[in-house]
Amino acid sequence: MKKIVFFLTLTILFGQDYVGSKKCKSCHKKKSNGAQFQVWEDSKHAEAFEVLKTPAAKETALKKGIETNPWETPECVRCHTTGYGKGGYEIKDTAFWEQKTERGKPTKEVKRMTYLQGVGCEVCHGPGSKYKSKKKMKAIFEGKISMESLGMILPTEETCKGCHNKESPTFTAFHFEEMFLTINHPYPDGFREKK
Ligand code: HEC
Ligand code: HEC
Ligand code: HEC
Ligand code: HEC
Repeated sequence: MKKIVFFLTLTILFGQDYVGSKKCKSCHKKKSNGAQFQVWEDSKHAEAFEVLKTPAAKETALKKGIETNPWETPECVRCHTTGYGKGGYEIKDTAFWEQKTERGKPTKEVKRMTYLQGVGCEVCHGPGSKYKSKKKMKAIFEGKISMESLGMILPTEETCKGCHNKESPTFTAFHFEEMFLTINHPYPDGFREKK
């Protein structure tokens, strides 16, 4: 029991868990706030896991001598999911994916893993468990608390280059300004001033 309490305390104090992009949807879908969720959902980043199931992915893997399923191969999954190797997405076996609640629905943990497939919000903004409450979000927005203290980041070109680099088998080039405009999801004009 003591051990359990100890680990619970550790998790509460230090645990910065990846919650998955679906958890950001409720507050970031309104057009008047910039609809960041929709912009992301319509972007290639949201599809980055599904793309690993295509024939093109299989071919890409084979060229590298990888014969396992790309979506179950660490060398592919690490750039096509959220928080891989950092407490986020994990490669799981069939028994895990088949877990159901008593009512026949996927368990909470299965759902969380599903929400971490693809390049989600938290790849660029940091794990969300500590900052995703409305109170904390408002405090960050109003500058009353530093986003860093809750694990939130605003990404830079370096963040992108963590994946958009020569280690990507399909890499050709990465031009930040141009690529950024493709995924940009700003607040509407004057949003900050009006708040
Ligand atoms: C309970 C509601 C809520 C949830 C859930 C939520 N947010 Fe927010 N977020 C806000 C509010 C409120 C703001 C302040 C701006 C606004 O009113 O839209 C904000 C602002 C932000 C900002 C900008 C901070 C700044 O000051 O520049 C980022 C980045 C952000 N959220 C990312 C996320 C991510 C990623 C998730 C999911 C892990 C998430 N949010 C989940 C309510 C929420
Ligand atoms: C270092 C990070 C990284 C790794 C490792 C990685 N990818 Fe990717 N992948 C990317 C990025 C970034 C893109 C989008 C731009 C590009 O092609 O570089 C991408 C795009 C793709 C695409 C879409 C390409 C297209 O032309 O539409 C496929 C398919 C793909 N990757 C398969 C794989 C497979 C299979 C593996 C494992 C053998 C893998 N990737 C490993 C980062 C990575
Ligand atoms: C965790 C790895 C990762 C990070 C970090 C990342 N990306 Fe990506 N990005 C990908 C992958 C994987 C794809 C390909 C998805 C697909 O084709 O389905 C992609 C695709 C894209 C595309 C679409 C490219 C095309 O060919 O249409 C753009 C634009 C893009 N990323 C911009 C950015 C920018 C800007 C940043 C930084 C702010 C960034 N990415 C950070 C992994 C990443
Ligand atoms: C590929 C990286 C990437 C992903 C994925 C991503 N964002 Fe962002 N986000 C950025 C960048 C870059 C900025 C601009 C940072 C700056 O202004 O310095 C930004 C800014 C924001 C802002 C502030 C807008 C403003 O005008 O200040 C909010 C809110 C936000 N993102 C929410 C989200 C949510 C919610 C998701 C997922 C649904 C998400 N982001 C996914 C890269 C990303």
